[in-house]
Amino acid sequence: MEDVSDPPFRALCKEQGADVVYTEFISSEGLIRDAAKSVMKLDIYEKERPVGIQIFGANLDSMLQSVEIVEKSGPDIIDINFGCPVKKVVCKGAGAGILKDIDLMVSLTKAMVEHTKLPVTVKTRLGWDHDSIKIVEVAERLQDVGCKAISIHGRTRVQMYKGEADWRPIAEVKNNQRMHIPVFGNGDVDSPEMAMKMRDEYGLDGAMIGRASIGYPWFFKEVKHYFKTGTHAAPPTMEERVEAARRHLQMAIDWKGEQLGVFETRRHYTNYFKGIPNFKEFRMKMVTSDHSEDVFAAFDEVLEVFGDYEFATP
Ligand SMILES: Cc1cc2nc3c(=O)[nH]c(=O)nc-3n(C[C@H](O)[C@H](O)[C@H](O)COP(=O)(O)O)c2cc1C
Repeated sequence: MEDVSDPPFRALCKEQGADVVYTEFISSEGLIRDAAKSVMKLDIYEKERPVGIQIFGANLDSMLQSVEIVEKSGPDIIDINFGCPVKKVVCKGAGAGILKDIDLMVSLTKAMVEHTKLPVTVKTRLGWDHDSIKIVEVAERLQDVGCKAISIHGRTRVQMYKGEADWRPIAEVKNNQRMHIPVFGNGDVDSPEMAMKMRDEYGLDGAMIGRASIGYPWFFKEVKHYFKTGTHAAPPTMEERVEAARRHLQMAIDWKGEQLGVFETRRHYTNYFKGIPNFKEFRMKMVTSDHSEDVFAAFDEVLEVFGDYEFATP
């Protein structure tokens, strides 16, 4: 996830049981122009393997050059983003924009598969809009040109993030007798029960988790605990939450510097400390302080004031 799944966040998710992690999406045009922001996103670490580097673009030459650049970072997977609905991406024909030109989607994937020894996977949506959903056929064509796994978000581009994700077409992809590559479902998995439903009722090979993990890396462990025991794991204690927030901030500062580290870790705090009554004053300190020492001090204060707070098991 852009501005979310950087190395510090991925490290925390990995520690809490994520099986595979992916970088933020990286612009192929940015990569080939050596844009600092894009190049920085190539940083991956041994402890997070298996890790996929995700790229997006619609121009064949740029995508192929990007594959060569990405390979040098040594990821386990190269993932192509054919699902981003954001206007600035779509208007260039990239991300979900490519869902308007399935032939191009397939030929780009084929060329990338042939250009690398690494497994190439695809992340996409159901289709451009409700009337153009052909995901069963699209997935089969991607498989036929060598795509090694497909993750499908159960919404169309037109839906953006509105309404509920529809997993039925994803199950149809999986049920296609000709399909043999793993099919991962995505969209609205926000509880262990939803993950189990995706596996058992929809028969999918895995669940790709997005928003539920923002500020809550424990989500992965909780899903696995539920699969194993049928019961909910105890939620993380206040001490564990403060410790995770502290480490998240420190790793972010170490990786991208004080200013960006402080700024970009802010979006996670709401979920780290969700549901605590009368917390606003403390949250405000975390998300408005410009210096890490003030944010760390706010964490200490939270532990002092709310150390005994008991989070309810769902
Ligand atoms: C802030 C944010 C950034 C995202 N960035 C990416 C991205 O870079 N690549 C990608 O494949 N999907 C990205 N997504 C989409 C998610 O991967 C996922 O498809 C979507 O959020 C639905 O799944 P969820 O309900 O589990 O969040 C992003 C989503 C959010 C909320």
